[in-house]
Amino acid sequence: MVEGTVVETRAPWRATVLTIFPEMFPGSLGHSLAGRALERETWRLDAVDIRGFATGKHRSVDDEPFGGGAGMVMRPDVVDAAIRGCGGTGPLIYLTPRGRLFDQARARELAAGGGVTLICGRFEGVDSRVLEAHAVEEVSLGDFVLSGGEPAALTLLDAVVRLLPGVIGKEESLAEESFEWGLLEYPHYTRPQIWDGRAVPEILLSGHHEKIRDWRRRQAEEVTKHRRPDLWSRYVALPSKNRT
Ligand SMILES: C[S@@+](CC[C@H](N)C(=O)[O-])C[C@H]1O[C@@H](n2cnc3c(N)ncnc32)[C@H](O)[C@@H]1O
Repeated sequence: MVEGTVVETRAPWRATVLTIFPEMFPGSLGHSLAGRALERETWRLDAVDIRGFATGKHRSVDDEPFGGGAGMVMRPDVVDAAIRGCGGTGPLIYLTPRGRLFDQARARELAAGGGVTLICGRFEGVDSRVLEAHAVEEVSLGDFVLSGGEPAALTLLDAVVRLLPGVIGKEESLAEESFEWGLLEYPHYTRPQIWDGRAVPEILLSGHHEKIRDWRRRQAEEVTKHRRPDLWSRYVALPSKNRT
């Protein structure tokens, strides 16, 4: 080893995903920034097949709902065995439209920890008793219904992994993104300077960094006010020193 070389001793951030479709992973996470970080072992991904914990002739993971109704429910005994046997680490999260909305603040908290274990539902979802028994955190990606938790897990992990140290080259670019300061981001422009008869805003060509910063902040405030009144009212309630 060259004297003075810094050796990376941090254990990789670990994602464990419980799913009946392990072949869906790493999927999009095997590409680009997340994929390169996976290769470098900045983070590690284990997709664990829930079906491997099912017993009985048919290795069923689901059964009919008590009380009747359409669809099937994932069995608590099988999901429990998968949780106990998967060797996962970090908070245990079930992805569900019934959960608390996922946001950038939660992504930051997860990135600051050692990893996460995600449960992907299918059918009508997971029997509630196993969620209660393991004090599982329920997290939603938004007010819509996906056909399974896997695309939600891929999305949540994408948001977290890009925040891990060293995954994004220019870390300052993270600090200016949407939600980091409670606002949506300002608009971006690149070459050509005039495209389709549309010019780039003059101020961005001025080289005047302070004026550009002010302009961007006003743009971020405008777009947030119009598109996301919920974020805007939280932002204006902040003490002015905590705003951008
Ligand atoms: C068809 S959905 C079940 C929807 C459930 N019956 C309901 O109405 O809330 C199957 C699985 O997809 C996942 N899923 C669907 N929408 C989601 C969302 N918005 N956020 C996170 N996971 C979601 C969950 O894991 C869920 O168990």
